[in-house]
Amino acid sequence: MYRVIGGRRIAGEVRVGCAKNAVLPILAATILTREPVTIEDCPELSDVKNMLAILETLGCHIQATPEGVRIDAGCAGRYEMPEHLSKQLRSSIFMLGPLIGRFRRAKVTYPGGCEIGQRPIDLHLKGLRALGVTIREEHGMIYCDGQKLRGAEVYLDFPSVGATENVMMAAVLARGETTIHNAAREPEIRDLQDFINCLGGCVRGGGTDCVRIRGVSTLSGAHYRPLSDRIVAGTLLAAAAATRGELTLRDVVSSDLGAVTDKLRQAGCDLQVEEDKIVLSAQGKLKPFEISTQPFPGFPTDLQAQFMALACAIEGASVIVENVFENRFAHAAQLRRMGADIFLSNRLAVVRGGRLQGAQVQAGDLRGGAALVIAALAAEGESVIENVELIDRGYASLEKTLSRLGAQIRRIG
Ligand code: UD1
Repeated sequence: MYRVIGGRRIAGEVRVGCAKNAVLPILAATILTREPVTIEDCPELSDVKNMLAILETLGCHIQATPEGVRIDAGCAGRYEMPEHLSKQLRSSIFMLGPLIGRFRRAKVTYPGGCEIGQRPIDLHLKGLRALGVTIREEHGMIYCDGQKLRGAEVYLDFPSVGATENVMMAAVLARGETTIHNAAREPEIRDLQDFINCLGGCVRGGGTDCVRIRGVSTLSGAHYRPLSDRIVAGTLLAAAAATRGELTLRDVVSSDLGAVTDKLRQAGCDLQVEEDKIVLSAQGKLKPFEISTQPFPGFPTDLQAQFMALACAIEGASVIVENVFENRFAHAAQLRRMGADIFLSNRLAVVRGGRLQGAQVQAGDLRGGAALVIAALAAEGESVIENVELIDRGYASLEKTLSRLGAQIRRIG
């Protein structure tokens, strides 16, 4: 649980660490090579720990070294995913492509993860089938036979991040060339491409809607530092704005945050943006704003909840439309407990912002939990936030980062 006393301004400077959504597929891709790989600044998140545990059960040797986490997949010999870990982590589905690439077969269970919509994996499976993989679904298990794996043209019906990454990873060791059309353009895909190329793979176009992979027969080892976390950056910016604070973020890729900084400007924040640094000041009166979540480069769905919390702390009516996931407003009910006025209709939310009051609330998912923290920081009085282990999935000790920035927040119980 977190205990938060609201009303303190966020002020100071933070270095943003590596992105969960970059690290998880990169860790999955380490099984593609028999040489050791070191991931620098691997964030201490429960999702990352679970992914490392999955690699370990598949036979990889994992070691914490002064340079980072070292993964040696040379001895990996299993292609069956442990069921209990798969259920805890949606990103366990990222193992499918790499396992097929390495072992030409895989057995996985349907993945778990945040309850934010149906989150099917049909696009992953369709993409892998296009690469010649035979897939059988039986009793909640997925059996893949990749003996006939080869490069192909893959058309995604929707630019799914996970499906793009899975097909990319399966194609790296396939014979021939693969082209993914209507690929997701998220920066984390560009980062996965950079990592694979560091290992000696041949991927181009990552970050555009057309990714090309030329298959290679083996990969080498590497030292790699994954991309900075644009969602953590956006969360901290929203917290600073909601508390009318001042924040300097370092080690960010500002060009990946364009839609976010644009919204904060629309809300009346003052922003100075350099290549790897963002300075926000929210001293004046803020204005309501409109958000419509979209695949990158649109406004990220992973910041929708945090910006709803910000909207609750700004007088006037803000409008939020969630286009990526069909069930991603669960945090609204908890924000209402803090006095928020939110009207919901399907994918639309209208927030009439004003004063928030501290309350006892429950995180229902990772980003929704972060939104409750932001609301609590902006609220009058004390809040208690339960289920913060969901927040630990994607933020490394969020309470410590916020305390250093002047917030009154403590982990209890
Ligand atoms: C990734 C991110 C997640 C983010 C999301 C959208 C990681 C580890 N997670 O999740 O934080 O919220 O991108 O930016 O990187 N869909 C299908 N069929 C599929 C796959 C997806 O219909 O086979 C639908 C989903 O239900 C959803 C939409 O496509 O409505 C977007 O999902 P996708 O881009 O695949 O998200 P994830 O890769 O799961």
